[in-house]
Amino acid sequence: MIEKLEKIKAKALKAIEECNDETSINNTKSEYLGKKSEFNKIMSDMCTLSNEEKKEVGAKSNEIRTIINDALESRLKAIKEAILNERLEKDKIDLTLPSRKFKTGSKHPINIVIEEIEDLFISMGYDVVDGPEVETDKVCFEMLNVPKGHPARDAQDTFYINDEMLLRTQTSTMQIRSMLANVDKKPFKLICPGKVYRRDDDATHSHQFTQIEGLVVGENISLSDLKGTLETLCKKLFGNDREIRFRASYFPFTEPSYEVDVSCFVCNSKGCSLCKNTGWIEILGSGMVHPNVLNGCGFDSSKYTGFAFGLGVERVAMLKYGINDIRLFYTNDYRFLKNFDRKEI
Ligand code: DAH
Repeated sequence: MIEKLEKIKAKALKAIEECNDETSINNTKSEYLGKKSEFNKIMSDMCTLSNEEKKEVGAKSNEIRTIINDALESRLKAIKEAILNERLEKDKIDLTLPSRKFKTGSKHPINIVIEEIEDLFISMGYDVVDGPEVETDKVCFEMLNVPKGHPARDAQDTFYINDEMLLRTQTSTMQIRSMLANVDKKPFKLICPGKVYRRDDDATHSHQFTQIEGLVVGENISLSDLKGTLETLCKKLFGNDREIRFRASYFPFTEPSYEVDVSCFVCNSKGCSLCKNTGWIEILGSGMVHPNVLNGCGFDSSKYTGFAFGLGVERVAMLKYGINDIRLFYTNDYRFLKNFDRKEI
């Protein structure tokens, strides 16, 4: 039996040498150590041996099984290595090839303008607040001194949800909300950037656009505070040489009210198509908070005053970047957006 086992070993090791893939390794294993193998037959015949012989043959068979298994294993390893080496040799990677460029996102022009204005006002100690876009008629109109039936309340312009709820048409709603929230009547100054909605749709109007509201309330807040603040804002947005002018206007929630023009930054006030030869460009609405609004929010108008202003972000962005169709802001055309690719324009 020992002799037989030695023969099996020799044959098996030779067969293993000749294996050159995983399948032949598996086949060789079952041929030499499997159920139907000669080796297995010897194992079952062992019961016929004497105890002494059993010991000897048992030890030999264990030794030979281990040798065959080890040989199978190391041959398999060698085969796998050879396959890998062959692959590596074939699939050579050229690390010096230039990589594909990633397209990175960029800030939307509306956000660029909002952030520029936020930075300025934060540097002047203002808070930046946010408020709901679904608003009550009371906050959007009534408390802003626009009672039902008031001519300034153009029903055509408003998206009503029901008799009482609507999509805010202006961020001036935040004047009311922030005054109502300021229960201890400390002086405060804030800006509120946000979306507003109106039933418009042409090249210069959109049903949804963006405003930034500003509000300062306290004792002794005067018109000159408003003027200085807006001059700083216009210089920041359109350059240090800009001047502003106040034109008397009407807004129900401010008295007096003004529209503010900035001197034309394209022609330096000489007259061009952008300023329609006037030298001035209308930029925002503003005024001193109306006593009715102050009183309605619990601020005694004989003690407190305030100024407010509201500006259309799209309008500022269109002027700054020479954009002539407001719809470009919302259609996400990559050719348009990539013009604002991270660089300061
Ligand atoms: N809410 C006004 C509008 O949407 C803009 C405005 C005008 C805001 C005067 C103000 C203001 O705060 O004082 O047309």
